[in-house]
Amino acid sequence: MIEIIDPVTKESLFEHAEGLTNSKGKLVYKLSEGAYRVVSDDNYTSNFGLEWNTFQKTQIDKFSGNNVSEERFFAQTRWAKNSLEGETLLEVGSGAGRFSQIILDHTKASLYSVDYSNAVEANYRNNGPHERLKLFQASIYDLPFKKESFDKVICLGVLQHTPDFKASVKALTEMVKPGGELVIDFYPIKNIFTKVHSKYILRPFLKRMKHERLMSWIRNNIDTLISIYKFNRRIGLGFLNRFVPICEIERTLPAGIAPDQLREWIILDTFDMFSPEYDQPQRLSTVAAWVKEFGMIDVDAAWVTYHGNLEAPTVRARKEL
Ligand SMILES: C[S@@+](CC[C@H](N)C(=O)[O-])C[C@H]1O[C@@H](n2cnc3c(N)ncnc32)[C@H](O)[C@@H]1O
Repeated sequence: MIEIIDPVTKESLFEHAEGLTNSKGKLVYKLSEGAYRVVSDDNYTSNFGLEWNTFQKTQIDKFSGNNVSEERFFAQTRWAKNSLEGETLLEVGSGAGRFSQIILDHTKASLYSVDYSNAVEANYRNNGPHERLKLFQASIYDLPFKKESFDKVICLGVLQHTPDFKASVKALTEMVKPGGELVIDFYPIKNIFTKVHSKYILRPFLKRMKHERLMSWIRNNIDTLISIYKFNRRIGLGFLNRFVPICEIERTLPAGIAPDQLREWIILDTFDMFSPEYDQPQRLSTVAAWVKEFGMIDVDAAWVTYHGNLEAPTVRARKEL
């Protein structure tokens, strides 16, 4: 059993049909649309709320018909399918729940899934109700759980989007039980050209645009952008695509998906590239050093390949028993 706490007062909270109550039976945080709302929607992740509620099913294996999330999850965690019986798993920054689905459908773990945005609603529509799923709208910095509670902690595709990357890593390590495991990934700094890219050139302007407006602009122009991207590659000038305001198609999106699905995925990823308040890539070695600094052992930092040519820089570690 995981002890749920109030991140503000640190008092124990209890699950109730209407939300989380304190020891006196007072409702402290409401349950709404399948999630305990420890924070309000009004925070720096509102772009993600819009993104995941708009593209609720796009990246979810059971709806998209591919198995890219499943392959990525098991390649990164190295856990066996159908394992984790009786174990508790904390997932931070779950978005629409692409990995929540994999955990619920392909492992036996009890999942505590957290996101700071109202993407928890999309996750609940995708994966709830489920006897092994509990959803919380909460921040990585103020998690509503007692420290050292979880057998497994994962945080995939999130850390670069938090304001203080190192503090986020620390918060995750604190949630791992002695003997438990942590698996994280993030955008990497590859070389001095990482930030010479339309993403980092345009983000200061585009992230300030009204999110709905940015989304419409991308939707209205995506076919032209895809044509430019493909043309550059065809004539051998693919390197110019880093200056085209569109996501990387070849190395980040799964090959072989239907054209309409791919188009939707490109709109999603292009919005995901420009709209976040924070986008702070890190070196794999730096993150591995932080994980060690926070007391984790057996730290393994590596580029994990999955689904053909897709790659994710991943750090795995354990907490000493
Ligand atoms: C790029 S999305 C990734 C979602 C999901 N893990 C996936 O791979 O599809 C990043 C998610 O991190 C969440 N996030 C950002 N800052 C957070 C914080 N401080 N606490 C919890 N979640 C946060 C965002 O709301 C967003 O849903």
